[in-house]
Amino acid sequence: MKKENLEVLISAKDLKKRIKELADEISTDYKGKKPVFVSILKGASFFLADLVREMKLDLTLDYIAASSYGEGTESSGNVRILKDLSAPIDGKDVIIVEDIIDRGYTLKAIRDLLNARKANSVKVCVLLDKPDRRKVDVAVDYRGFTIPDRFIVGYGMDYAERYRNLPYIAVLKEK
Ligand code: IMP
Ligand code: MG
Repeated sequence: MKKENLEVLISAKDLKKRIKELADEISTDYKGKKPVFVSILKGASFFLADLVREMKLDLTLDYIAASSYGEGTESSGNVRILKDLSAPIDGKDVIIVEDIIDRGYTLKAIRDLLNARKANSVKVCVLLDKPDRRKVDVAVDYRGFTIPDRFIVGYGMDYAERYRNLPYIAVLKEK
């Protein structure tokens, strides 16, 4: 791991603080409900784990994997489901947990898919939002941070599968 290519954008301490605030907000909104948190693999698994750990709701977890990226830094509008949910969600209150919304293709595809399965409600929680890059409109219900149009890694997010284990979020500087 070449450290010289990384510039810290959001520290571990700031992540923890903001995630606690989001968890409190969601806990208030879902009081008395039994939501299903659906994380989009692999990137959002770190965020999901830290988010739900701050909640006292009677909740369950599930995972879905989609791919719109190759090995590079550009997503495509072609979203493929690589792994589906492990249980039906009809009648459930679903919160999709995603690491980052960039062009919006991934979240739009998954939000539409889960809505079509007759969930009682589907909301979206993203840790990071890069609004300058949006190509398709997706309603974001809970947002951690708005960030500039830079390629970032860490806290679950990768470049060609590397850097996911960084405890902070960093800009990957071009060589
Ligand atoms: P979208 O479909 O263009 O919104 O892309 C969303 C997906 O692309 C996210 O789930 C991430 O996996 C990935 N992605 C988008 N921007 C970045 C980034 O800056 N770093 C790492 N992954 C990213
Ligand atoms: Mg992703």
